[in-house]
Amino acid sequence: MRLDVFTLFPDAFAWFSQQVHVARARELGVELNLWDYRDTTPLRHGQVDDTPYGGGAGMVLRIDVVCAALEAVFAVDPVRVADGRRVVELTPRGRQLDDPLATELAGADLCVLCGRYEGIDERVSQLVTDRVSIGPYVLSGGEIAAQVLLDAVVRKIDGAVSNPASVAGDSFSAGLGGALEYPQYTRPAEFRGWPVPAVLLSGDHGAVERWRRERLGGGEGSR
Ligand code: 6GU
Repeated sequence: MRLDVFTLFPDAFAWFSQQVHVARARELGVELNLWDYRDTTPLRHGQVDDTPYGGGAGMVLRIDVVCAALEAVFAVDPVRVADGRRVVELTPRGRQLDDPLATELAGADLCVLCGRYEGIDERVSQLVTDRVSIGPYVLSGGEIAAQVLLDAVVRKIDGAVSNPASVAGDSFSAGLGGALEYPQYTRPAEFRGWPVPAVLLSGDHGAVERWRRERLGGGEGSR
C-alpha cells in the first residue's frame, strides 16, 4: 500500500508520522510520502495560489500547481493518477468520513490532496475519485482532516495496531455492528466516591459480557 499526501504544510504531518501504528504500518510495507506543492510549482517565487475568479475573500490553490505536483511524482498525465488508486480531495464539501469509507480506502493506494485557504480550484474534480469531509464544520485547511482520514485508514491495515482485537472492537466497526464501544474503567476501583461498576470487578466473564453488550450504542455525547 502506498500513501501519497500533497500539502503546503508537510511539517504538519510530523506527529502523525511518528505514531506507533503508523511506524508499524511502514515496517509492514506501507509507503507514506509527503509532497510539498511548492517544490514543483511551475510558477515563479514559489507561488501556489491565486485570487478567486468572480471576486471574494481568500486564496485558491491553483489547478496547474496541483497537476504539476502529480505529474512530478507519478510521471503520468495527472488524469491518469486515478488509474489504480483512490485520489482523495479533502474538502468540507465532500462525503462525510465514516467507518465503512475508512475500510474501503484501506484496501487501496491513496493519493491525498490537501487544500488550504479557500480550497482547491474546482477543476480538481477532473483528477479525483473521492471528495471527503470529516464533518459539518469548516477547518482552515485539509491537513488535520487528512490526518484524521489517514489515522482511521491505517488502523484498518492488518498488523498496524498490535492487538487486532482492539481494532475489531473499535466503536463504529462491523465487529460492534456499527455501535459505539462500551465504557471502559481502570484502577483505582474507587476515586472520590466514584465507584467502578461492581460487575467489572466480579470476575464473572459472562456477566461482564452482558453488561458491555447492554451498553453498546448510545453516544449522544452529553453528560
Ligand atoms: Cl476535509 N477540509 C476543511 N478545510 N474543512 C473541513 C473538512 C475538510 N472536513 C470538515 N471540515
